[in-house]
Amino acid sequence: MPIMEPYRIKVVEPIPITTRPYREKAMARAGYNPFNLTAEDVTIDFLSDSGTNALSAEQQAAGMRADETYAGARSFFRFKDVVSELTGYEHMFPVHQGRAAERILFTTLLKPGQVSVSNTHFDTTRANVEMAGCVARDLPCQEAADLDSDAPFKGDIDLEALRGALAGPDDVGVVLMTITNNGGGGQPVSMANLEAVAKLAAEFGVPFFLDAARFAENAWLVNQREPGYRDVSPREIARKAFALADGCVASLKKDGIVHIGGMLAMRDPELAKRCELVLIATEGFRTYGGLSGRDLDMLAQGLLEVTEPTYLRARAEATAYLADQARLGGVDSVRPAGVHALYLNAGRLLPHIPPERFPGHALACELYLAGGIRCAELGSLYLGELDDDGNLLKPAPYELVRMAIPRRVYTQSHLEYVAEVLTGIAKAPEKVPGYRLTEVPKLLRHFNCRLEQA
Ligand code: F0G
Repeated sequence: MPIMEPYRIKVVEPIPITTRPYREKAMARAGYNPFNLTAEDVTIDFLSDSGTNALSAEQQAAGMRADETYAGARSFFRFKDVVSELTGYEHMFPVHQGRAAERILFTTLLKPGQVSVSNTHFDTTRANVEMAGCVARDLPCQEAADLDSDAPFKGDIDLEALRGALAGPDDVGVVLMTITNNGGGGQPVSMANLEAVAKLAAEFGVPFFLDAARFAENAWLVNQREPGYRDVSPREIARKAFALADGCVASLKKDGIVHIGGMLAMRDPELAKRCELVLIATEGFRTYGGLSGRDLDMLAQGLLEVTEPTYLRARAEATAYLADQARLGGVDSVRPAGVHALYLNAGRLLPHIPPERFPGHALACELYLAGGIRCAELGSLYLGELDDDGNLLKPAPYELVRMAIPRRVYTQSHLEYVAEVLTGIAKAPEKVPGYRLTEVPKLLRHFNCRLEQA
């Protein structure tokens, strides 16, 4: 079935078409770490869907109309109007990206020793909770553990476990729901789950925030999968989700369809006042927060475009199409397919590579060597427990590879190409080598490590 991309191309950018010998050299130079490759080396870049999106003509026009006034710029008020209409939150601050919102919120809201409870904290979110002297606890629902189940809302939080956490001896300072659940396979959270979380948080008097980086994609999957939402528009669903929470942090580099930007928004005026002080001291004045007027205006427009059903349908269909083609070619991924990414089951494809030789990383490297496709491992290299020499002490629960799909960037032919490369690898998976670490940094290992084939 052809995907009807609801836009045509007005500006193009060449992508490098390389040969296998070129890629072998590039990968060796990069220490077999895709993060060390440069743009010139990569044909299809599935490393992240963050800040890698294509702007619309209307966004570019909005950028030209933007106002670069230091304080009180018109661009801020356009941004504010769109965010108010979408979220209903009275207080909002632009920030340069999601993790800035996390830092400001957690250092302001949480007291050292408190616990943040979530369906799954994204890694920067966890880091910011920990840097505030607090503990991040993930309580994903039971269904999330079965990669092959087609349960529709594997991004949900385990409500019983949440009640236990709220009632238990720990001092829970915030409940944070990540929509969609990026750390948990890009799976959506149901409205029923969000409603139950809101009720529990209110019962225990704990603030409830959303990590709303992919709020529109979550709304689309609710529209498609949750009974009673077929005739509710994605925008209306998103509004309902924001209405249930006390506020949100959001990286707008995803569903803002821009290259940079984020926001922190909330209802509580007292908390907002305290956040504003940290914002001004560390990001910028309250009407720009580290962004230019151009960014704010393009964001205001992107936040309108992102809930368009025709856009969301085509994007979701593209991801599902790639998942189907990969499966037909012999490569399974986490089911059911979400929207922003495909999580390939490398452990299943490469059973001859033990966890200590990083099967997820091996598949990510092979995708680059075979086809110039860059993506990131989500397995024992990233999430496993290692000693100082890079020996694996405790493997990750799964060996996955995330193919994150930028918005409005690649066409169906690009996806067909990716499926073909995956199919080629699946024809002789036993030829894919494992990897051994040669440099093991103590911090941010997956960004900075180097490896060799083993
Ligand atoms: N929350 C979620 C759910 C995210 O996916 C990200 C970023 C952040 C917060 C942090 O936002 O990057 O703007 O500071 N995710 C990117 C990714 C990096 O590739 O998934 P940021």
